[in-house]
Amino acid sequence: MQNLIDRTLAHNLSQATKAQKVDILFNYMERRGQTFYDEVVTQLEHALQCAAIAVKNKANTTQIVSALLHDIGHFILDEHNEDVSFLDIDLNHEEIGAKYLEPFFPEAVTTPIRLHVPAKRYLCTVDPSYYNGLSEASKRSLKLQGGVMSDEERVKFEQITHYKDALTLRRWDDQAKVKGIETDGLERYRDLVLKCFVGV
Ligand SMILES: [Fe+2]
Repeated sequence: MQNLIDRTLAHNLSQATKAQKVDILFNYMERRGQTFYDEVVTQLEHALQCAAIAVKNKANTTQIVSALLHDIGHFILDEHNEDVSFLDIDLNHEEIGAKYLEPFFPEAVTTPIRLHVPAKRYLCTVDPSYYNGLSEASKRSLKLQGGVMSDEERVKFEQITHYKDALTLRRWDDQAKVKGIETDGLERYRDLVLKCFVGV
């Protein structure tokens, strides 16, 4: 698994100024984001739609950046729907993506990324209408992801800082799969991403 992770982005980011980091990140997303996330949207379209929904909902800076980068794990693992194993093998993209971004972004950005998959389990547990709205495929994968949460798991989840942002992100994520809609491009998010970078 470790050798599936593309280290070039982290390597390049670690050697760059903040302004260069944005270029590196956006170029990477443009390049690796052209494969399809599912039947209807590319990885990049999915990221841009998710960020646009965050903006529409008057989200704060870290929520918007988190929405834009939430599936970065798919980019660095090069997971997409032309890869036959994409839907059968869970490479834990949320954990890998969050860990990968941790040296560069604050927890307010990375924690919702880490939790956006368990957030689905949480929402299915507390909100039957959320579960009923899931596609059949998503209902099936819920079982693989651990099914609904026990009371103990739910309480533990609620103790994590930023868990509410993860729930919000999850709902935006679910909506960000619409074929052919126009969104702003990555440049729209340059200043917001720049603001979120930690360090020099
Ligand atoms: Fe997503």
